[in-house]
Amino acid sequence: MLNGVVDPIFFALICTMEKKLIAGTMRWGSWGAKMSTQQNADAISKWLEYGVNEFDLANLYGDYSCEKEFGEALRCLKISRPSVRLISKMGIENLSLERGNFVKHYNYSKKHIVSCVERTLNDLQTDYLDILLLHRPSPLIQADEVAEAISSLTSEGKIRSFGVSNFLPSQVDWLTRHIKIEHNQIEFSLSDFQALENGNLESFALQNLSVAAYSPIIHLGNTSTELKLQLASLSEKYNCSEACIAVAWVLKHPLISSVVIGTSKLERIQEIQKALDVRLSVQDYFSLWEAARGTKVP
Ligand SMILES: NC(=O)c1ccc[n+]([C@@H]2O[C@H](COP(=O)([O-])OP(=O)(O)OC[C@H]3O[C@@H](n4cnc5c(N)ncnc54)[C@H](OP(=O)(O)O)[C@@H]3O)[C@@H](O)[C@H]2O)c1
Repeated sequence: MLNGVVDPIFFALICTMEKKLIAGTMRWGSWGAKMSTQQNADAISKWLEYGVNEFDLANLYGDYSCEKEFGEALRCLKISRPSVRLISKMGIENLSLERGNFVKHYNYSKKHIVSCVERTLNDLQTDYLDILLLHRPSPLIQADEVAEAISSLTSEGKIRSFGVSNFLPSQVDWLTRHIKIEHNQIEFSLSDFQALENGNLESFALQNLSVAAYSPIIHLGNTSTELKLQLASLSEKYNCSEACIAVAWVLKHPLISSVVIGTSKLERIQEIQKALDVRLSVQDYFSLWEAARGTKVP
């Protein structure tokens, strides 16, 4: 963005953008869903079979173990590196004696960004990340240090594109003064749709960011009876699962480009693809929104 002006190329892109699913790996590996290397490899293959080649990782997933296990699975599959796209996030430092952390915190010093990316590349057994995201905003972030780290990683060919996650528009603006940001990954679903009501999605578009939504399904179990009934009814109407309806609702927003799905089950990987084909009518979209917010729109 140049002073709030949407880049015409970006605008054309979002108007014609093909919506996509991204495979989330947060619960993969031996730590979460107790997946072996072979099961990780099977999940990667299953997503690829359905045309999903983008994988969302983070250095802290699986208590900092998932990326290594994912890398091992990729190596076993012997697939060519350009046939997959790898997203990783860094910055969250959990309590860990091994890492010298006595309190959970976020660290975006130049040295830390560079060393985390290098470790991730080593764990994933690859030379580059397609996208690096800063996992969460920190009050202590020094935009110029981030810019230096990202410029150096980019010029060395270690990252191809840069973005953030869970950042507000003002936090993006601040960093954008120092470094180009292309992506924001945010929580967005029928259980958390603040960004739709407070204008943040439009702000991100004005900042020329592609927006990926995470956790579209996991919290649906805790939602209102009204929303559950609505999901059940539309699942029958559109002949797909309730999870597909929930994902289709997220994807219908014109400014959301992709949804990150965190299942570890092969059969669910196949089923959730139907979300891409569900064309919710405007009234069905609003009926879900109304059920989720608990009141009619004004
Ligand atoms: N940027 C961030 O801060 C951030 C934060 C959280 C997550 N993420 C990313 O987003 C991905 C998805 O997040 P998430 O796992 O919280 O959300 P999700 O995709 O909404 O939920 C997946 C969870 O829901 C369960 N599930 C139940 N029914 C399902 C169905 N029909 N289809 C798919 N899953 C179903 C899955 O269990 P089974 O495994 O048994 O299928 C899994 O535990 C993560 O893997 C991660 O890559 C990013």
